[in-house]
Amino acid sequence: MPRLIFLGPPGAGKGTQAERLAAAYHMPKISTGDLLRAEVKAQTPLGSQAKVYMDAGELVPDAVLVGMVKGQLQKSPEQGWILDGFPRTLPQAEALEELLKDLGQDYDHVLNLDVPDQVLVARLLARGQEQGRSDDADEAVILKRLEVYRQQTAPLIDFYEAKGRLQRVNGNQSMELVQEHLQALVQGCSEAGKLGSGRR
Ligand code: AP5
Repeated sequence: MPRLIFLGPPGAGKGTQAERLAAAYHMPKISTGDLLRAEVKAQTPLGSQAKVYMDAGELVPDAVLVGMVKGQLQKSPEQGWILDGFPRTLPQAEALEELLKDLGQDYDHVLNLDVPDQVLVARLLARGQEQGRSDDADEAVILKRLEVYRQQTAPLIDFYEAKGRLQRVNGNQSMELVQEHLQALVQGCSEAGKLGSGRR
């Protein structure tokens, strides 16, 4: 089963597409934003700490996320996985390389969704109005998330490109077309007999 990493700015469609591919391939998605929001909702100590960062549009400390993802990757490795929202910093990406090496796993694709900033802001403001997600409610927080993305997450594009592992997808088209493009990439990998081969 494929092991996929989704990259892209806030609002690029990582969660939407992770959900669709997880359903299409009957595989789990590991969404760090969802995991953190569940902690916040359950009012755990971790959730209370994370909420402060999330509401400010900042990233939650790396150590918290690495521990969280490690537990998820260990669950059922044979089913493949989709990482949505992790890694998000260079230290997280480096920790993931080590984690996967220790677990005898590897990723098949790093899929980067490209969407212009003005489209991202419009999508997130609309979701804030419809669903009341607290970090979408205020344009200033959305702009802060985009700034944090540019400073801390965008460097991952070069990180994975240098490894020859990055694939870019235009995320500024309908959800159906984005999904089609992503599945074509994953399917291409499958047909080439590369899925789950543990390339390193
Ligand atoms: P997270 O939940 O990961 O938020 P995000 O990256 O800001 O991602 P979004 O959910 O906003 O965007 P998305 O790309 O998933 O787009 P989506 O599909 O939802 O993280 C939240 C917070 O948690 C972070 O700010 C941070 O504090 C913390 N956190 C999480 N992971 C962390 C980590 N690894 N390290 C440290 N901190 C971490 O779509 C957005 C909207 O657009 C939706 O309404 C959707 O319907 C719409 N849409 C999607 N695709 C399309 C399309 N093609 N056309 C039109 N509309 C579309």
